[in-house]
Amino acid sequence: MNKVNNIREKSLVFIGFMGVGKTTVAQIVAKKLYRDFIDIDEVIEQEFGMPATDIFREHGEDTFRNKEKEYVFHYCRQPLKVISLGGGAFLQDEIREACLDHSIVFYLDISWESWKDRLHMLVDSRPVLQDKTLQDIEALFHDRKRTYKAHNSKLLTDSYNPEEVAEYIISSIRLAWELYE
Ligand code: S3P
Repeated sequence: MNKVNNIREKSLVFIGFMGVGKTTVAQIVAKKLYRDFIDIDEVIEQEFGMPATDIFREHGEDTFRNKEKEYVFHYCRQPLKVISLGGGAFLQDEIREACLDHSIVFYLDISWESWKDRLHMLVDSRPVLQDKTLQDIEALFHDRKRTYKAHNSKLLTDSYNPEEVAEYIISSIRLAWELYE
């Protein structure tokens, strides 16, 4: 597929740690911009007909990561999508490079203090959080932050609700459209 050159048509990609609210925010943004919403985890889960935890257990993490790469490659090159990535997707250099090359990448950041209160709601559905101590998870949290450094725009979401985050992103994307077209 040809590269999307018009900034107004580039797809928007959301990255950030598990449970930061990528899917919720991306869904709101997609609706407000009249774009298709794609959740990469959901697409993978649909293909396998099972939740991510079962895919990890029955097929292994590598199988999940390969599918993740396949689908991100496919969708980030298409115009006019809003795409939510799993929190581990940017660990793969090729995914990171493809997203930065073809789309606009928004990093939803959160502090450890705010995030750790959400852990109990996430652990059952997130295989990479299972069988870990709180210390292990904090180390993973800070480690992952390093992989999110490559982005086009970032927002610390601690004190905002998803609707406010979506509004901020839409204003910043509108500004970029005006500045760079
Ligand atoms: C993962 C994050 C999950 C999902 C999978 C692995 C990770 O997505 O892709 O469980 O390695 O950080 P969310 O960030 O949407 O929870």
